[in-house]
Amino acid sequence: METKDCKDVGKLATFVPNKKLSVYNWFYFKEGFARELVTLLFDMFELEPGETVLDPFCGSGTTNLACREYGIDSYGFDVLPLCVLASRVKTRDYDLGKLGRAVKELRQSKFMSQDLGTVPKNIRRFFNPHTLEDVLFFRERLKGFENPVRDFLKLGLITSTTRCSWMYKDGAVLKLRKKPVPQFRKFYLRTLRKMVRDLGKLDTKPCETSIEFGDARNLGLEDESIDGVITSPPYLNKIEYTKIYGVEEFLFFGEEARPGLRSYMGLDTEAEPAFPDLDLPPAANAYFSDMKRILKELYRVCRPGARLGIVLGDGCFPTGVVHCDELLPKLAEEQGFRTERVYILNRRTCTRQRVIKVGKMEESLIIFKK
Ligand SMILES: C[S@@+](CC[C@H](N)C(=O)[O-])C[C@H]1O[C@@H](n2cnc3c(N)ncnc32)[C@H](O)[C@@H]1O
Repeated sequence: METKDCKDVGKLATFVPNKKLSVYNWFYFKEGFARELVTLLFDMFELEPGETVLDPFCGSGTTNLACREYGIDSYGFDVLPLCVLASRVKTRDYDLGKLGRAVKELRQSKFMSQDLGTVPKNIRRFFNPHTLEDVLFFRERLKGFENPVRDFLKLGLITSTTRCSWMYKDGAVLKLRKKPVPQFRKFYLRTLRKMVRDLGKLDTKPCETSIEFGDARNLGLEDESIDGVITSPPYLNKIEYTKIYGVEEFLFFGEEARPGLRSYMGLDTEAEPAFPDLDLPPAANAYFSDMKRILKELYRVCRPGARLGIVLGDGCFPTGVVHCDELLPKLAEEQGFRTERVYILNRRTCTRQRVIKVGKMEESLIIFKK
């Protein structure tokens, strides 16, 4: 197995380069990677139109959107309803005339006051009451539209709600930071008009894209149907997606749309450990036992010769660093994959109680071949 230091492309493991790209930037997903990382892998894997790429943890849909630019068919799965919506909205075909008319209708709609009592205090505290009333009004108003227009308007509403809130996502913690916020109605309508304009700027090619609510451990795809996998699973011990996107999930998806907690990977600490001989923290055991199931599933759905590009980071624990870029290849090789290369993209310091250094962590891109 070859390891290569590639810190010059380290920023491609982040969402930052996407912030300037039309459509890619419709939903800011801090945990996402860059379009350019995906297109580099298209070249490395020699993927072509007519072939099929899978992202089993599609997040904000960057892999699938890049596939559409290249005319490559793709599947995306995620357990967070918010991510499924964002990925779908970014990868659909639209009638621009219909979208324009819908925005006009929203602009002309007459405000009706809303009952803020339906929103629990722990969510209300993140909003100026006028903003929240506007948000609830538009949420109600969108029910009158049909898909795909409704989802399009809904994604604009969600991103505008976040931007006009006092929420601040600080790593894995949601904080309150009071600041002046733009007038909501104006901001939302401006966001929608920009989204409509963006569609004219993105050049896509004919291909099939399917985004589904689903669990990476059980994809429901046919055996040997995938030509390439480009993905990034949740990092070990890093982000609790249910917490960090909890406000958006509550306001726009409701209780019934939420996946059971067990659908998120790395939570079943009772599961049989994937590395029984290693003394790993319980969270790491849970994580690797899920990773083992995922790699087995990926081996099943990949055709022989398919390659996988997986971005992931080491885990930081008070007791030390868990080196995922060393352990994941072991699990993948057990399933039958060959590890072609590990590119180290970034290095960070793992600390305990914020100041005591525990070790060095890496963020890597691992290439496997079936
Ligand atoms: C690191 S993010 C992926 C980011 C994505 N590459 C992008 O650029 O936007 C990991 C994603 O995995 C999802 N996830 C967590 N557990 C999952 C599971 N069991 N099956 C499918 N998706 C899952 C999370 O909701 C999150 O969106």
